[in-house]
Amino acid sequence: MEAKSKLIAKMNDLLANYQIHYQNLRGLHWNIKGEQFFELHVKYEELYTRAQVIIDELAERILSIGGAPVHQYAKYLERTNIQELSTITNGAEGVAYIVDAQETILKLERELLLLTDELADEGSNALMSDLIREKEKTTWMFNAWLNKK
Ligand SMILES: [Fe+2]
Repeated sequence: MEAKSKLIAKMNDLLANYQIHYQNLRGLHWNIKGEQFFELHVKYEELYTRAQVIIDELAERILSIGGAPVHQYAKYLERTNIQELSTITNGAEGVAYIVDAQETILKLERELLLLTDELADEGSNALMSDLIREKEKTTWMFNAWLNKK
């Protein structure tokens, strides 16, 4: 596959993962129960609100480099590594999902960082750097919340 088509396909894979992750975060926000309800209900909202902005930025970046962003959920499901969550009410389970999902997304973003570097696509490369740095920070925070590492 031509390098640019490979880049666009991988960016669409990333978009698909974010879309499923977004909807999973909505589910966590709606279904959380227990003593951490107020804390996590708000935190999940903060995350899906941010994910929504990232999704739009990614889709418009794909357009800016001459691609077409995938917009159908059926196609997202074909492309995503993150699976749709069943109902999670437990706080620690929800946060553990977030750490896992972010690792999956980070792996793709790191691959895209290398690919955009090879292609000298500075705009996409800078976007990946920003997303990686932000996610490394929140992953640290969620692991601290889980009292791990
Ligand atoms: Fe809400």
